Amino acid sequence: MQKISFYHTAFVNYLEATIQVKEPASLYDPIHYILDLGGKRLRPLLTLMTADAFDGDYKHAMNAALSIEIFHNFSLIHDDIMDDAPLRRGKPTVHEKWDVNTGILSGDAMLIMAYQLFEFYDPKTFQDLAKLFSKTALEVCEGQQYDMDFETRDDVSIPEYLKMVECKTAVLVGAAMKMGAIVAGASKEDQDHVYEFGRLLGIAFQLQDDYLDAFGDPETFGKQVGGDIIENKKTYLFLKAVEFSNGDDQLQLEHLFGINPSDATDKIETAKQIFQTSGSADATRQEIENYTKMAFEVLDELSIPEDKKDMLKHFGNDLMNRRV
Ligand code: IPE
Ligand code: MN
Ligand code: MN
Repeated sequence: MQKISFYHTAFVNYLEATIQVKEPASLYDPIHYILDLGGKRLRPLLTLMTADAFDGDYKHAMNAALSIEIFHNFSLIHDDIMDDAPLRRGKPTVHEKWDVNTGILSGDAMLIMAYQLFEFYDPKTFQDLAKLFSKTALEVCEGQQYDMDFETRDDVSIPEYLKMVECKTAVLVGAAMKMGAIVAGASKEDQDHVYEFGRLLGIAFQLQDDYLDAFGDPETFGKQVGGDIIENKKTYLFLKAVEFSNGDDQLQLEHLFGINPSDATDKIETAKQIFQTSGSADATRQEIENYTKMAFEVLDELSIPEDKKDMLKHFGNDLMNRRV
């Protein structure tokens, strides 16, 4: 196996060589724009690394990895419309730079491109990949709908939140890894275990995403800090803060997360303060660690050499400590 940076370079080179400039520009420019904004490339790297971990050739997993990255970026374009987000990776979102209709159609085209990439595989692999992809993509839609529905609900529970993040984020991380395992011809048991590793890591990842949304550094975070608070997202931070606080703080939180002021500066400040003082920020950090540890425990079940497990652990630890 290679260093993480090796897979990163190989993937970005492949992406740049594969995604062609086509007409009409107004359809394809936004696709290039979002794919060229960079990002961590976490999901495709996991596909490549998993293929290698199971003694496959990472190069053979390249189209699956690209499919995952294109699907992920499609979901971000539509997500930014739904969340009314102005910034992505430090740049204007697609619907801000162009408009909402452009974001919808370029996103749709990307979803189709993602599917198309499976055509490069033999019929059996094609079927396995397409089946996993369809199931996962539908779950992402379910997660996104829960996320939207929760904005206007005031009785969201922690289990409901976990189900929502599992769908909107974690299943794609699991699927990214399982695709690497499929392409490498890993056993069904190994495919399922690696999916479970990715799913748990994906939950940790989304908890961290929620945490950074409130407490990230605006200089480096790349998204609008406090965006979840503005949109009344029922994140782990919010739910734990409601659980841990009482009296005035609890009432204030519940009130704040039901309003949409035109200037949200005070709302963000107050919410962040209660997240800290209630102990919810610490509890969120703890839960990120718990899910990362649970993911690592699943690694024991995999029939791959220790050094490859260490590599996946290293990746998980990096994620837990990320700032963007
Ligand atoms: C995005 O969830 C999930 C999908 C795009 C499917 P969020 O809305 O929480 O993610 P960010 O914070 O905008 O990246
Ligand atoms: Mn969002
Ligand atoms: Mn969202």
